[in-house]
Amino acid sequence: MKKNLIILGFMGLIVSGFTLMGNSLPTNKSNLFTGSGNCLLCHSGSQGVLMNSAGRDVSPPYHWKSSMMANSAKDPYWRAKVSSEVEENPHLKEVIEDKCATCHAPMGRTEAIYNGRTHFTFDELKQDPLSLDGVSCAVCHQIDPDNLGTVESFSGKYQIKPVKKMYGPYSNPFTISMVNNTGYTPVHGTHIESSALCATCHTLTTPYVDQDGNVAGYFPEQMPYYEWLNSVYPAQKISCQKCHMPSVNEEMKISSLPGNLANKRNPVFEHHFVGGNTVINQLMKDNYTALGINSDLSNLDITAFYTLENLKSNSIEVSSNVSSNSNEIVIDLILKNKTGHKLPTGFPSRRMWVHFYAINVLNLIMILFLTKKMFRFTKLY
Ligand code: HEC
Ligand code: HEC
Ligand code: HEC
Ligand code: HEC
Ligand code: HEC
Repeated sequence: MKKNLIILGFMGLIVSGFTLMGNSLPTNKSNLFTGSGNCLLCHSGSQGVLMNSAGRDVSPPYHWKSSMMANSAKDPYWRAKVSSEVEENPHLKEVIEDKCATCHAPMGRTEAIYNGRTHFTFDELKQDPLSLDGVSCAVCHQIDPDNLGTVESFSGKYQIKPVKKMYGPYSNPFTISMVNNTGYTPVHGTHIESSALCATCHTLTTPYVDQDGNVAGYFPEQMPYYEWLNSVYPAQKISCQKCHMPSVNEEMKISSLPGNLANKRNPVFEHHFVGGNTVINQLMKDNYTALGINSDLSNLDITAFYTLENLKSNSIEVSSNVSSNSNEIVIDLILKNKTGHKLPTGFPSRRMWVHFYAINVLNLIMILFLTKKMFRFTKLY
């Protein structure tokens, strides 16, 4: 008896140790949705499964959980903006809260409307683990192809049908284990690879109100999809996914169950989803517990690292032409946008600064000497 108790006590320790380390992604379910925690069993990285030959975890949950999209309903900037808009227009509280939740808390809001409700409130959002799961697995992978690419799909009008299908990029997926475990069937759907899928939330026209507080019209607030559509990228078949979900060109299994799964896939797509947002990433690290962040701190660091890489290497090409005569020096500074849209794009508060110095050679040598002393460059991952 005593021996059993000791063993139980020991197991209790292991369990509690695990919970302390653990960042529990929600396992809640609703009529239409299921929490990201219900995908971990099979789609986490392990030897031979969603892990590259160098042993790096390339699995969807690993990168997604520290992304801005996973944290879209916890984002303190977003919450502050919703509150301030409600404060300015108290008579529109219901409309504003419901509208903002459409893309930032898509599972809670879509479920509420599906259940016959007219709107979804901020108070409900704060209590609902599926709302707090942000732009989660079960949102993107259930978006129906029907209205994609049309105006009817923009401003958060993605369609989720009660058919329990998760669309993915591969043909003939092995279905039984996922159906039995989650109730959802993995299905091949080419639309998952299209920019139009992202456009459902990344094309946003917003109503504005006149002095009397009445809706007076709509303005184009976020237009990365149209910017992309009018760029060279559609002709080159370079979608949002191509840049925001880097592909790993190695053959591997994408599920750990069943253990004898024969299918191997190539490529798989890292769910980085980084843009240029390092500010909120840092805020989430600094207020990790208060904001109820699910991802490990180390994952937030990895997301920050990829975001900085994106800004440093993939955003802009800077070059210059210099000509001079005895009186003047003329410098043309050439900035070439390397992104698939305007730079910056997205939320209208985004700004980019160009710091430009013209200095003589003596000063340059001095500055190079000082910067070498001041900065230590570390490679993280
Ligand atoms: C159609 C979908 C959609 C709706 C509806 C929507 N947003 Fe957003 N929002 C986005 C997307 C997409 C981004 C990310 C763009 C970016 O990173 O630049 C974003 C970003 C933001 C940001 C910046 C967050 C950050 O961390 O920098 C704020 C603030 C914000 N939204 C507030 C609101 C408010 C307030 C409402 C309701 C009035 C609202 N949003 C409704 C899609 C939406
Ligand atoms: C913002 C939308 C979005 C979210 C959120 C998202 N995915 Fe994906 N996922 C995609 C897209 C798009 C692809 C295919 C990319 C392509 O073909 O270019 C994909 C591919 C996949 C694949 C195929 C294998 C692979 O790794 O590429 C699996 C499995 C998968 N996702 C599972 C998940 C799980 C589990 C989550 C949540 C932890 C998740 N996804 C979150 C959009 C999303
Ligand atoms: C019990 C294991 C298991 C669980 C849990 C599970 N899946 Fe799967 N999933 C699979 C298997 C097996 C495949 C097919 C692999 C293949 O054929 O290569 C798959 C394939 C997929 C695909 C790719 C489909 C295609 O045809 O491209 C997506 C997307 C996907 N799952 C999403 C999810 C999401 C989202 C969750 C969580 C809600 C989830 N899965 C939970 C086992 C699972
Ligand atoms: C259900 C709505 C929805 C869909 C679908 C969606 N997004 Fe987002 N996305 C958001 C919201 C909301 C944010 C802003 C979160 C925040 O900052 O609070 C965002 C932010 C982003 C960011 C900015 C991250 C940063 O660090 O600045 C990128 C990049 C992004 N999404 C890419 C994609 C891609 C690629 C797809 C398609 C595969 C996609 N999104 C589909 C709602 C969505
Ligand atoms: C050719 C590569 C490329 C393509 C294609 C691309 N993006 Fe980006 N995107 C980037 C880079 C690099 C950044 C980081 C620079 C920045 O912050 O604007 C970025 C930033 C963003 C941001 C953050 C907002 C901002 O400016 O900080 C959002 C949101 C976004 N992309 C959405 C999309 C969507 C939606 C699509 C498809 C319609 C798309 N991207 C296509 C490379 C690309």
